[in-house]
Amino acid sequence: MERTYVMIKPDGVARGLMGEVLSRIEKKGLKVVAMKLAVMEEAKAKEHYAEHAARPFFPGLVSFITSAPSLSLVVEGRDSIKIMRAINGATKPAEAALGTIRGDFAMDTGRNIVHASDSLEAAEREIKIHFGNDKILEYKRSD
Ligand code: CMP
Repeated sequence: MERTYVMIKPDGVARGLMGEVLSRIEKKGLKVVAMKLAVMEEAKAKEHYAEHAARPFFPGLVSFITSAPSLSLVVEGRDSIKIMRAINGATKPAEAALGTIRGDFAMDTGRNIVHASDSLEAAEREIKIHFGNDKILEYKRSD
């Protein structure tokens, strides 16, 4: 079954939106199979966002992501990568459709509440960065 990595970023946690985001994921029918609330280490943040290392916003992005707790999730389900990207909406909140998390709750690209892997390769890489050898749970969801 396809798995993706999802992060509720420090702004989402600080604004009390963990429940809202989790509720949307669960109501859609996706399954949360691992979850970790922690302040991300700088090395992990840099590895996670390595593709943006040369961008001008990179230092600010890393310092923001490591500034306060974020919630890391592994989310499972058929086409979970594509579905999670649709639930989150476009990266830039002004382009995110209403009804998506970013469309409904965000105003700023740097404070866009959530992250989700954009490909199978990214999902595998990001799950490894944030969950390493941690146990990914198996259980049955009734729909
Ligand atoms: P995310 O999906 O986590 O992937 C990269 C992140 O960089 C993105 O969401 C934004 O929160 C953040 N970011 C900050 N500034 C910019 C910018 N100018 N363009 C794109 N992404 C940005």
